[in-house]
Amino acid sequence: MSGATDHFLVRGGARLSGAVRVSGAKNSVLKLMAASLLAEGTTVLGNVPRILDVAVMGEVLRRLGCEVVREGSSVRITVPERPGHEADYDLVRRIRASIAVLGPLVARCGEAKVALPGGDAIGSRGLDMHVAGLVKLGATVDSEHGYLIARAPRLSGAAVWLDFPSVGATENLLMAATLAKGTTVIDNAAREPEIVDLCQMLVQMGALIDGVGSSTLTVEGVETLSPVQHETVPDRIVAGTWAVAAVMTRGAVTVLGSRPEHLDMPLEKLTQAGATVTVVDDGFHVEMDRRPSAVDVVTLPYPGFATDFQPLFLGLNTIAEGTSMITENVFESRWMFVDELVRLGAEVRTDGHHAVVRGREQLSGAPVTAHDIRAGAGLVLAGLVADGVTEVGDVHHIDRGYAGFVDTLVALGADVQRISVAEPDWLD
Ligand code: EPU
Repeated sequence: MSGATDHFLVRGGARLSGAVRVSGAKNSVLKLMAASLLAEGTTVLGNVPRILDVAVMGEVLRRLGCEVVREGSSVRITVPERPGHEADYDLVRRIRASIAVLGPLVARCGEAKVALPGGDAIGSRGLDMHVAGLVKLGATVDSEHGYLIARAPRLSGAAVWLDFPSVGATENLLMAATLAKGTTVIDNAAREPEIVDLCQMLVQMGALIDGVGSSTLTVEGVETLSPVQHETVPDRIVAGTWAVAAVMTRGAVTVLGSRPEHLDMPLEKLTQAGATVTVVDDGFHVEMDRRPSAVDVVTLPYPGFATDFQPLFLGLNTIAEGTSMITENVFESRWMFVDELVRLGAEVRTDGHHAVVRGREQLSGAPVTAHDIRAGAGLVLAGLVADGVTEVGDVHHIDRGYAGFVDTLVALGADVQRISVAEPDWLD
């Protein structure tokens, strides 16, 4: 497993150019893996990224009694007739998304015991809507000794209204509702492309879901679901990361295997910053020939501007011409990495939900630390436009969500090196 001591050495100055191919979305595949628990037998997921989070989720499923095997870009998951029902702290604290097994397990086994994930670098990230929704579906949910324990001999359909279109709560409730008795209506549901992907897999499995892609999902429960083969939707956040990298370095990058229609907002913002974005066969091309102009962004649930792009656009604004305002509405404390950017010479001030960024001609390389996946990626991109060497520490965060991050940057012409004790064995 990749060590916490690994770091990246980034030498700024290169203009990125070339083509990259993105694989499936982390934030989809982790839930597709959880959804496989809903059916006995072998589910095969395609376009699965080689990232740390997939390996950890595979381990969560193995400990539930599943066989999980990677075959090329696919992952084959064989779910037993009676899977286990416990996900322990050791794994859940490494990957919050393992909370996604809660809904499927209680629906399929009548009981689920999942460790509470605890806090992380981007805010407290409560689970109240997951719990309230399951209670509405007839489960009893207790919190004991650091575990959430949900029980219901059989869930029953109900009307659930989410206070906020939470991605995780929508997914958990959706999966639980597929095997509930009767009809569930999830209102104010999240409608990210990854949720549409999950709905499409569930429908293939035999679930009855109406309103896919909308904020009202109606699920008619069925008795059993069947295993399927399913291709994971492309990772829009990874695709957007390469686009931002192209713009920051005044480069020209073609992003293949992606769906530009899932990136309308960020690509529009890059255009406002001065880039030329062209849709091409199987993806899009981004080109930039000058210093970017500052762009304001306001994060919101999809189809609004994704919070996962916020650190990347904040980084872009640090070297833009002009002053920008970034408003973070989804997570309460996604500013931790601002202090790291300041170490690179960025001029950023935060106040509550807002950050004001005054663009500078150039940043100046320094040692910095990655606190989460997107902040880590943002720091590497900042290093690409900094003078001298930027050493990014704790890059295991980047490994969680980006496959071959350094190799991709090097292929595009960047001067980036991974300094590690050993290659991560999950890449095999
Ligand atoms: N929230 C609650 N109560 C709940 C659920 C959520 O208060 O019961 C709050 C959270 O604290 C947060 C907000 O609602 O402030 C949004 O949370 P949401 O449930 O939508 O996010 P999530 O499911 O925890 C997923 C992605 C995140 C992404 C967000 C928003 C996965 C594995 N993670 O998180 O991705 O930022 O949706 O789009 O799907 C990343 O990939 O780096 C990442 C953090």
